[in-house]
Amino acid sequence: MSTQGQKIKELIELRERAKLGGGEKRIESQHKKGKFTARERIEMLLDEGSFEEFDMFVSHRCIDFGLDKETYLSDGVVTGYGTIDGRLVYIFSQDFTVFGGSLSEMFAAKICKVMDMAMKVGAPVIGINDSGGARIQEGVKSLGGYAEIFERNILASGVIPQISAIFGPCAGGAVYSPALTDFIIMSRNTSYMFVTGPKVVKTVTGETVTSEELGGASVHSAKSGVAHFVSDSEEEGIMLIRKLLSYLPQNNLEETPLQPTNDPIDRLEDALNEIIPDSANKPYDIKDVIAAVVDNGEYLELQRDFAANIVTCFARFNGQSVGIVANQPKYLAGVLDINASRKAARFVRFCDAFNIPIVTLVDVPGFLPGTGQEYNGIIIHGAKLLFAYGEATVPKVTVVLRKAYGGAYDVMSSKHLRGDINYAWPSAEIAVMGPKGAIEVLLSRELDSIEDEKAKVEFLLRKEQEYKEKFANPYVAAKFGYIDDVIEPRNTRFRIIRALQSLATKKDTNPAKKHSNLPL
Ligand code: HXC
Repeated sequence: MSTQGQKIKELIELRERAKLGGGEKRIESQHKKGKFTARERIEMLLDEGSFEEFDMFVSHRCIDFGLDKETYLSDGVVTGYGTIDGRLVYIFSQDFTVFGGSLSEMFAAKICKVMDMAMKVGAPVIGINDSGGARIQEGVKSLGGYAEIFERNILASGVIPQISAIFGPCAGGAVYSPALTDFIIMSRNTSYMFVTGPKVVKTVTGETVTSEELGGASVHSAKSGVAHFVSDSEEEGIMLIRKLLSYLPQNNLEETPLQPTNDPIDRLEDALNEIIPDSANKPYDIKDVIAAVVDNGEYLELQRDFAANIVTCFARFNGQSVGIVANQPKYLAGVLDINASRKAARFVRFCDAFNIPIVTLVDVPGFLPGTGQEYNGIIIHGAKLLFAYGEATVPKVTVVLRKAYGGAYDVMSSKHLRGDINYAWPSAEIAVMGPKGAIEVLLSRELDSIEDEKAKVEFLLRKEQEYKEKFANPYVAAKFGYIDDVIEPRNTRFRIIRALQSLATKKDTNPAKKHSNLPL
């Protein structure tokens, strides 16, 4: 064999060695847990044959704890770039078979390299996390490595989309970096997120807890709201990432590509004329309204099981990607509470950062009152949503379906917060509060003076009716121009599309500043 031939053979052997990560036994154990390897995940995610790998020959430089005798090519993370539906993305995929996917100085340098490249060319970064956090043997080198990644996550925020998949037990920095990104996807039963795992929890606090109880997908999708999506398998999670990207632009200076549709823009939905129940307190499902108006009834919902009283989703109108925020009357009457405010605020800010117009569907009885909310800071959390809407400069189209009471009227993309086009259905009730509450506040003295119970009830009903006729309709707001038009519900799709088309060239800015002081 020629010298050149020998060298090529050596290259091929090195590549094969790198592909084995922590070795066949650990790969087998990974598969037994129902998990794929770092490379298998990349292969599933990217367009076939599009992956270009960087830094396959990197290994760690640690000599403590006998690590000088234990090195692996690639050092526990596979990095590079490729395409998804023909669009460029940068990727890193952590390899649990190498020191539990834990992060070393060189591992961090590899991730920083792809993040820097992604920022230079303006393409999304996808991180697949399966890691025990900072590599304990490397000490501060590894902590420094994490901070280098965190800083890049922070600087990339609002510039390129960052998506994190959690496909294994992730601890420490392996959860804080995802927390700085835009979206987190967890796979059910095989992924966990915690600051530190159950073994360390037991040592530090004495608490005995399983990984699932501490930070499983069920916890983070329903209780903490940390995860935006949960998939039943890694394959499903990977498909979700591909779908999510289809709604996003490559970076903050671009628009999401149009996706041609055969759904007519003037499709009328007669069912919407009947959807609002006669009784004001009866619920209906806002998702039926969303499905009825968007292209082909398709939408991608975020945080489905967290703060279900507000729905946030991506969808398309005439092929154009939009973010929808909608109160859900079916759950807690669609009230705005702490979690709903946090959830929607983050979504609004994402859409605004990435030029995605916001469509808001309003049916909200107000902010949730009471000590439970006040003690936990509903004032500051509710202000987040108010702030997010008021700051957003993307096209904002709003439709009030039924209730828009009190502060919640202001918050939900009202005209006064630079809402561009604000419509209402004839069933809309725009007022400071609902009739019952209003009468009790305004006429409490008269009420107290009536001794006969029957007369009291009659008085109440009469006054409530008068209030309803005067305020609980869209025409008072329309009279002042706060509502641009009162529309027939079945025309909603058409009217939203027309509104979005008219706003395609919208330009709006905020005053020059270093940054705002969002009520965090
Ligand atoms: C080095 C690690 C490691 C780590 C796991 N391993 N975590 N090696 N540093 N952080 C190694 C194990 O020694 C083992 O090696 C292999 O990975 C698999 O680990 P197991 O424990 O056998 O797996 P499992 O039972 O599935 O448990 C996974 C785990 C657990 C939940 C992640 O390993 C764990 O709790 N690790 C520590 C997590 C943690 O507290 N990290 C926080 C770091 S601090 P062998 O050779 O047996 O295969 C941090 C700070 C960053 O990250 C800054 C934040 C702001």
